[in-house]
Amino acid sequence: MPPIITRRRLLAGAAGLTGLAGAGLATAWGTGVFDGAPRLLDPHAEVVGRVEAARHRTGRTVSATLTPRPVTVDLGGPAVQTWGYSESAPGPLIRAGAGDLVHVEVDNRLPVDTSVHWHGIALRNDMDGVPGVTQPPIAPGGRFTYEFTAPDPGTYFYHPHSGVQLDRALYGVLIVDDPSDPGRYDAEWIVVFDDWVDGTGRTPDDVLASLRSMAGMHGDMGGMMGMGGGMAGMETMTSPLLGGAGDITYPHYLINGRVPAAPATLIGKPGQRVRIRLINAGSDTAFRIALGGHRLSITHTDGYPVTPADTDALLLGMGERADVTVTLADGVFPLVALAEGKTGQALAVVRTGAGDPPRADAHPAELDRTVTMTGVLRAAEQVRLDERRPDRTHRLELGGGMMPYRWTINGSTFDHATPLPVAQGERVRLRFVNRTTMFHPMHVHGHTFALAGGGARKDTVIVLPNQTVTVDLDAINPGQWMTHCHNLYHAETGMMINLGYRA
Ligand code: C2O
Ligand code: CU
Repeated sequence: MPPIITRRRLLAGAAGLTGLAGAGLATAWGTGVFDGAPRLLDPHAEVVGRVEAARHRTGRTVSATLTPRPVTVDLGGPAVQTWGYSESAPGPLIRAGAGDLVHVEVDNRLPVDTSVHWHGIALRNDMDGVPGVTQPPIAPGGRFTYEFTAPDPGTYFYHPHSGVQLDRALYGVLIVDDPSDPGRYDAEWIVVFDDWVDGTGRTPDDVLASLRSMAGMHGDMGGMMGMGGGMAGMETMTSPLLGGAGDITYPHYLINGRVPAAPATLIGKPGQRVRIRLINAGSDTAFRIALGGHRLSITHTDGYPVTPADTDALLLGMGERADVTVTLADGVFPLVALAEGKTGQALAVVRTGAGDPPRADAHPAELDRTVTMTGVLRAAEQVRLDERRPDRTHRLELGGGMMPYRWTINGSTFDHATPLPVAQGERVRLRFVNRTTMFHPMHVHGHTFALAGGGARKDTVIVLPNQTVTVDLDAINPGQWMTHCHNLYHAETGMMINLGYRA
């Protein structure tokens, strides 16, 4: 996602932060360029290794290989040319225990640079997968080995931090199991949502180019909303829950890589308690999720436990995850994810008995009952962040818009942004102030913050238009950590900043 990776930066990246300063990364790395700015810690500094060595470790290693490459993926009818980690989306499941070492070899067979970021994991900074910041990009034909301790149990995912590659099939689920989990469920399903365009006549890069080309256009912005992808469809893309809900019209919405006409089937038995791990891997779409004939008990969000909350439906922004438990009824049920504020939906089938499959346009009544947004959830006792006065508060004003297509934090795009400094050991408060008419799912790397006042522990939180969301985190994971909107197109056109530990 860092928008500007020049070859010079690539070379400098290998030399670490000290090398970068001289190579023109003045904006992000500040030595002497903006006066009085603190020197920032090198992601490869010794302290990063020391903090890693102090993490609880089981001694076990989980190994995997990822081979990003051009593939043909069958979405269940439409077969699309895309880039993937396998011939399906999502890519390979990586599953480790808390405290295990995760060892992943990446073999880049794409025609372009790539990287892998481990979304939500509080890992060592030099393994965070941000090219130009924590590592050089992985060049075509190149390899990179990621190796890190996965400290906290939960539902996570991985994806490139390079351009708009996440909007192809380049994503996969990473689950960290809790050895002490009571496991009050009989079965587990993993359900991944995605908005899909690649291979349908345009690539995500084409979409980005057409959004950017609006910079040169004139006219009334309201009329432009919804033309994001250059599609004929003029969706307004607003939602009572979110306000401005998206910029891009997608031809398909997927659950576990399948279109609603040929849905994935999840098989269970009546009476079983199933833990469903829900992951929004979309790039520009929030999903409103419900299972026909069932209520959902939300037990976790972004990996961390919450005080269980029962609901009919649940709204997940891009990059957010939730685990829910359901007690299965007898029959066949639609699991539906509405593209919030857009036209279209994703569908999977839950089958525990006889019955006809649901129609592709099934609309369970639960979708229009109580819809829970994760921001209202409460942290479970054992993960509540203790009350402490913040040592430092950073205000992040979210700005920008469609015309020109450019999104900012504190008035700057990432390439011009001054890092937000933090010091090791501080309690840091971030205030996300949304000055735009769209919602932004704001994500912080390497930390799980707490929503104000005993709210949920999360790494991605929806900030509604004209709303301010306050979160606290403990700065105990030294490094340079991207903080950005998880709308991929917003991040890529500037809505990102570095939360940077001082050297
Ligand atoms: Cu999933 Cu920097 O993001
Ligand atoms: Cu955004």
